[in-house]
Amino acid sequence: MTKVLMVCLGNICRSPMAEGILIHKINQRNLAIEVDSAGTGNYHVGEHPDSRAIATAKKFGIDISGLIARQFTSNDFSIFDWILVMDSSNAKNVLELASSDEDKSKVKMFLEFSDRKDKNVPDPWFGNNNGFVDVFKMLEVACEGFLKSETNFIK
Ligand code: 4NP
Repeated sequence: MTKVLMVCLGNICRSPMAEGILIHKINQRNLAIEVDSAGTGNYHVGEHPDSRAIATAKKFGIDISGLIARQFTSNDFSIFDWILVMDSSNAKNVLELASSDEDKSKVKMFLEFSDRKDKNVPDPWFGNNNGFVDVFKMLEVACEGFLKSETNFIK
């Protein structure tokens, strides 16, 4: 089964929302894909997503309140087929832990699956709830693009 890991810095805002959205679409379509998320930093390990991320996802019918933050490790390269990062700083931190070209080839900027010009998902942590809704919507588009990019996801 295809395994996808969403990665951001804290694993409490962007990547848990991306995980929740992708799982929701996978369940709706009965696809065979496993999804997880992680942060490159360890600041929030063990915590549930930011309350603003939980509230935003809930507004769109998705429950991410049960997710728990963990830190990305080099072992994730041996588990996941796709490592989808939210911004170029995440990409740099993840690639530093890669030990082969195969590892490196798994890492993609998530917004490469959307047609947004800026491929960085802005960090909504310091903003307000509007920032979270904007981020949610761009993640939603990229999730759609990701699922369309691979026909072998169909069960
Ligand atoms: P995330 O947002 O990477 O989207 O989860 C952040 C959350 C917390 C921090 C940074 C980014 N922080 O510095 O604590």
